[in-house]
Amino acid sequence: MSEAGALRGASRREFLGTAARLGAGAATASVLPLIAAGRADAAKPRRAAGASATESVTGDASLGAHGVAHGLLYGCAVNMNALAADAAYAALVREQCRIVVAENAMKWGSLRPSAEGFRFDEADALVAFAEANWMKIRGHNLVWHQSNPKWLDATATKENARELLVTHIETVAGRYAGRMHSWDVVNEAIRVEDGRADGLRNSLWLRLIGEDYIELAFQTAREADPQALLTYNEYGIEEETRAGEQKREAVIEMLRRMVARRVPVDAVGVQSHIAAAATASGSQTADSQYAAGLMRFIAAARELGLQVFITEMDVNDRALAAEIAGRDAAVAAAYKQYLELALGDPAVKAVLTWGITDRYTWLGHEEGRADGKPERPLLFDAAGKAKASFYAVRDAFDQRGQKSYLSG
Ligand code: G3I
Repeated sequence: MSEAGALRGASRREFLGTAARLGAGAATASVLPLIAAGRADAAKPRRAAGASATESVTGDASLGAHGVAHGLLYGCAVNMNALAADAAYAALVREQCRIVVAENAMKWGSLRPSAEGFRFDEADALVAFAEANWMKIRGHNLVWHQSNPKWLDATATKENARELLVTHIETVAGRYAGRMHSWDVVNEAIRVEDGRADGLRNSLWLRLIGEDYIELAFQTAREADPQALLTYNEYGIEEETRAGEQKREAVIEMLRRMVARRVPVDAVGVQSHIAAAATASGSQTADSQYAAGLMRFIAAARELGLQVFITEMDVNDRALAAEIAGRDAAVAAAYKQYLELALGDPAVKAVLTWGITDRYTWLGHEEGRADGKPERPLLFDAAGKAKASFYAVRDAFDQRGQKSYLSG
């Protein structure tokens, strides 16, 4: 059986096992025809303002290649069900990404079916896929308030919480030591609305361990995997709103305290789940929504000696009218404006989108659009065809070579 046939015919479990042994990238050559139609369409003139026609979106024309040319790693979050079942999706990830992150497979909820055991099949399959295709890997995540298994809530106490956390980090980060580009060690620990002076979220870990759970997690991760870049990852620090400003301040203050105490933090992840805004002219201007505050935040992180990763970017289109061409153009404009802004700072070293095709966006499972139509927040449409947003992101990468953040 051809490798592509093996991928199509195999059950998910079989695939995961095969992926772990063969490195899952094995289907490269044989599945390429499956996405050829998308490529041909992608060669049509693009819709984004100022864009010109392109011949290809693969190889040297891919996001991965354009990113590397400008000092950036491009990648996406990977849906492991899709990777197992959809060969065209696997090929798309392979041809565009230089770095991948598991959308869910490395969370507690996926790795810890029971208090006693670990289940690594999906996480191992992602690592094998990435390594077989010379991609780097981000780990997401070691500590979060969400997506924890039910048994954790039921059994964690002030007495055993430190041990639970340390054992988890030692086991998971230790398993992949030396093979990870970075780990989101702590995810979303700030929630100003919870009312603490330091802005820390009232999470299970805070309640059971106290505020030094963050330091404990980073120290343990460093010992378990001294080579991975240890990252603090957060959402909601992008917007030019009062809430956005408060969150930025709380995050930077926390990072400042960590650096002062020599907590081993190397990077901050700016998730970048942004929204396209409807405007009177029908076109998107992200300038006022995402601007000076974001750049101040990135500069402050840089001054602390941290790298900055755009970790989970997508552009929700809920505020836009249904018509697809207009929606795609506005989403593309939002990507371009946001990334041209953020990439103006040299501290930004990686851009990951949260998914790559609209077919598997998490936004499809959220509240969604009022008209019930599928959202179009990513770079390829549900059929695997490059959208205006693909070209917008690629243009933003290319712009980086032409603009200096110092010259403004
Ligand atoms: O796998 C189960 C399946 O067995 C079950 O039948 C089904 C029923 O609901 O649920 C499935 O699990 C869901 C999982 O996604 C896989 O689809 C969970 O319920 C659902 O909560 C989970 O949502 C994920 C969410 O994080 C919570 O972990 C999203 O896919 C994922 O995109 C989202 O990602 C987060 C980042 O980790 C952190 N930043 C924000 C970002 C978006 O919310």
